[in-house]
Amino acid sequence: MVDESFHETLTYYRQRVDNALLTHLPPRASSGTQLPTVMHYAVTNGGKRVRPVLCYATGKALDLSLDRVDVAACALEMMHAYSLVHDDLPAMDDDDLRRGKPTCHKAFDEALAILAGDALQALAFTILALNRDPLVSDTAKLRMVEVLGEASGAKGMAAGQAIDLESVGRTLTLDELENMHNHKTGALIKASVLLPAVLSETADPELLPRLEGYAGAVGLCFQIVDDILDVVSDTETLGKKQGADIALNKPTYPALLGLDGAREHAERMHQTALSHLDGLGPEFDELRTLSAYIMQRTY
Ligand code: IPE
Ligand code: IPE
Ligand code: MG
Ligand code: MG
Ligand code: MG
Repeated sequence: MVDESFHETLTYYRQRVDNALLTHLPPRASSGTQLPTVMHYAVTNGGKRVRPVLCYATGKALDLSLDRVDVAACALEMMHAYSLVHDDLPAMDDDDLRRGKPTCHKAFDEALAILAGDALQALAFTILALNRDPLVSDTAKLRMVEVLGEASGAKGMAAGQAIDLESVGRTLTLDELENMHNHKTGALIKASVLLPAVLSETADPELLPRLEGYAGAVGLCFQIVDDILDVVSDTETLGKKQGADIALNKPTYPALLGLDGAREHAERMHQTALSHLDGLGPEFDELRTLSAYIMQRTY
């Protein structure tokens, strides 16, 4: 149940990753250019921190100390923040508002927004590679770089973004829409459970397909809800422009299935996510509740 105690857990994880991010970002005055300032702007401007939260909750389920999960949580949020900065650019969704503030290219300029995205992406890999935790083997570090790279690149998020842009104005089939969402959003969400699984070198290998199945369904549910909120919410609550998908004629779940159909599909995905955790113990309860939170979220 998404109760008060779960919200306290969310707040705790959010503060945890916010503090950790500050230790990894370059100091604002470090390079004589505005680039570090723009990187801070893109990362420290709020956000629900869903990927880091998933990462911590998975780490906890796998009995990892949260100290060991901080680097992965930061790398995921940096990658995500970069994807949002680029997603908002005029060449992509051309949005002016993100997390309740002017988008990076509006607050600064387009070139700096592109470069801040580039630098955040590079930093995400750098912090994984430079992880000084003596308990993380070089093999695990390499595998984490690989997992994040695959999730973000031409097999993951970037591919999904390309499909999104190429699909504008077209009516996709349900399978095509699902494929797009699995890439553009699902891949990084999957990486959020895979990275702690890599860290937990002693975890039961049988858990891996379960976690992947869970995250696949949660990722789809997450993007369906994002599409629904674009229709039914408002700009102030979302912190980004409501109605942006309709204005750009984007292929979305509500466009294909209607609002009720999209809501039912999201609920189905939530149930699918839970089914992948069937029979696992109470240490997986946070992941169960997180799926419910993602399903019920209002922004
Ligand atoms: C928005 O992501 C873009 C999608 C992938 C749907 P979030 O809804 O996680 O955005 P923030 O990080 O909370 O701002
Ligand atoms: C973006 O999806 C997914 C990313 C990879 C960033 P959207 O374009 O739907 O995200 P919002 O609605 O602008 O946050
Ligand atoms: Mg987009
Ligand atoms: Mg967008
Ligand atoms: Mg959207």
